[in-house]
Amino acid sequence: MTQCWKKLPAALFIGADGLYSPRMRVHLDAEKCQGHNRCYALAPELFDVDDYGQAVLLVEGDVPADLEDKARLAASNCPEYAITITD
Ligand code: F3S
Repeated sequence: MTQCWKKLPAALFIGADGLYSPRMRVHLDAEKCQGHNRCYALAPELFDVDDYGQAVLLVEGDVPADLEDKARLAASNCPEYAITITD
């Protein structure tokens, strides 16, 4: 079967493993955040905490490929479901 790469969406890229995969984005819903700070503890490269203990997202746009696992970990450990991931 022949594949036409020109038909791939622009959001796709070539990852470190040489495979095409969608870019990940992480989103923080500040309204849901209650300051549990698990995100900061698990992924300090992606999250900080402000003076009130609320999460601050450090990454705008695509998550670097080497931090994707940490983004998923932070999202899955937020008890308020304030962090979501889109690919
Ligand atoms: Fe807030 Fe969830 Fe992090 S409640 S501080 S986004 S773990």
